[in-house]
Formats: sequence, structure tokens, C-alpha cells
Amino acid sequence: MTRYALITGASSGIGLALAEALARRGRSLILVARQRDQLESIAIELTQRFGVEVLFRACDLGEPLRLSGFLLELEEGERQIDLLVNCAGMGTSGPFLAQDWMTEQDLIEVNILALTRLCHALGNSMALQGGGQILNVASVAAFQPGPWMSTYYASKAYVLHFSEGLREELKSCGIKVSVLCPGPTRTAFFGTAQMDTVKLERQQLMSPEEVALHTVRALAKNKAIIIPGRRNRWLAFSPRLSPRWLTRKIAGAINKAYCPR
Ligand SMILES: NC(=O)c1ccc[n+]([C@@H]2O[C@H](COP(=O)([O-])OP(=O)(O)OC[C@H]3O[C@@H](n4cnc5c(N)ncnc54)[C@H](OP(=O)(O)O)[C@@H]3O)[C@@H](O)[C@H]2O)c1
Repeated sequence: MTRYALITGASSGIGLALAEALARRGRSLILVARQRDQLESIAIELTQRFGVEVLFRACDLGEPLRLSGFLLELEEGERQIDLLVNCAGMGTSGPFLAQDWMTEQDLIEVNILALTRLCHALGNSMALQGGGQILNVASVAAFQPGPWMSTYYASKAYVLHFSEGLREELKSCGIKVSVLCPGPTRTAFFGTAQMDTVKLERQQLMSPEEVALHTVRALAKNKAIIIPGRRNRWLAFSPRLSPRWLTRKIAGAINKAYCPR
């Protein structure tokens, strides 16, 4: 029976690079995101290049009813999924009180609720199958509070702590859980978050392909927390060295510099 890796956020950026890296290793895939046409052409390309089966499903993970429909389809389809990659995510930037509430709610729905629900649904299927693997995508932002991107940073802190908790809980069911914490990476993320992309382009950003390569290697070793790049490992570690008031000030000053005016 074919076993699939289900990847959310596979239509672009890190999710797409992870899909390609896994297909290259012979993995059959189920790709999920909102942009149907994009998913279709990625599925065709990956099948042609790597000879693996690639299915796709357009689904807005910010809409709980659509996610329910998708989960029901998965249950009825009886496809074995032994790797779940929760990569779909979005950010917002700027003063919290000035944010459009619906966008903030979307962020929480996608970054937190959908990710948690997928872990619950597919975690249960994996437990019945006797095991599997889950990779949740957080960020180096998860290690500190982030004024001017407060909701985003807090959502990623949730993903980091939730994933670490699950890792211990699910060991006995044969399910391995890892969390990926990338640093700034060259993707559409910053544009979606309305950040200053011109300024960001001047920074040293990792490519999504570099992040994906590091990640699939670390996944094979069942690493708990995956942080690609030495600079990013330092970014994740450094908040432990300074008092929290200083960490907040530094993160706030950096975020403010890239915020919409
Ligand atoms: N880029 C960075 O610097 C960076 C750093 C740390 C962590 N991350 C995290 O990495 C993950 C991937 O982001 P990225 O950088 O690769 O950005 P990206 O290129 O914008 O990718 C975001 C992905 O999430 C999907 N997505 C967004 N909202 C969705 C929704 N409502 N329903 C279904 N899919 C949705 C998008 O697909 P559709 O538009 O087709 O729906 C897209 O495939 C995110 O969780 C992000 O927080 C990024």
C-alpha cells in the first residue's frame, strides 16, 4: 500500500521546497494549499521529474468547515499518511490595534488551529497504523516575544511548545514529532505580511531549498528542534542570554524597522 507525506503550504516557499526534497527521495505526496492551479502544476512537475505519485487538494485551512470536509475525505479515502508536514502559515506586521481583525483571526486559524487539528486527526490515524512522523513549522520567532508582530511570534511559540509536548506524548505510539524553526528565508512570506521587502532583500536570507535540504536530513535523524543555519541557531539561543525586557526591546526595534509605516 502506498504511503503518503501530506504537506500543507506546498504551493510556494518552504513547503514547496520540502515537497520537492521529499519527492526527490521517492516519497509519494499529498499537497495542500489554497491555490489549486499552482498545486496542479507542481504535482505534474514533481511526478514527471521524480516518478512519484503526487495528489493535491485545494483547501483554505483558515476555514474550519473546509478543513472538516478535507479530513472527512482523507478518512473515507483510506490513504495511509505516515508523514504530516504542517508548513502552511502567514504573518502580519505593524501595530496590533491597527490590524484588520479578520486577518489576525486567519493567522490564528491557520498557524495554530488548523495545525493542531491536523496533528490530532492524522496523529490518531498514525497511532492506529502503528507509527508515523510529524513535522510542524515554527520559526526562530518562536523563542522570544515580538512586538509589532506580536500575534505571529506568539503563534510560533505555540507551535514550538505544542510540538515539543507532543514529541514526548506520542513516542509511545511510535510517532516521531519534530519542529522546524527557520530564520528569515527568501519566500513570499514577507510580502504577505506587508513587510518592507526592499529592505529585507538587503539581508542575508536563506533559500527555501537550503532550508528543505537541512530539514529532510534532520528529519531522517529524528531531531527534535530543527534550526537550519548557524546564524539562525544563534538567533534562537541568544534570547536566553539577555533579560526578557532587553529581548523584547531588541525584537521590537528590529520588527519596527521592517513594518509598514
Ligand atoms: N520565510 C520566512 O522567513 C519564514 C521564517 C520562519 C518561518 N516561516 C514559516 O514557514 C512557513 C511557510 O512560509 P513561507 O516562508 O514558505 O511563505 P509562503 O511562500 O508565503 O508560503 C506560505 C504557504 O502557506 C499556504 N497558506 C497560507 N495561508 C493558507 C490558508 N489559509 N490555507 C491553506 N494554505 C495556506 C500558502 O498557500 P496558498 O497561498 O496557495 O494558500 C503557501 O503555500 C510558514 O509557517 C511561515 O510562518 C517562514
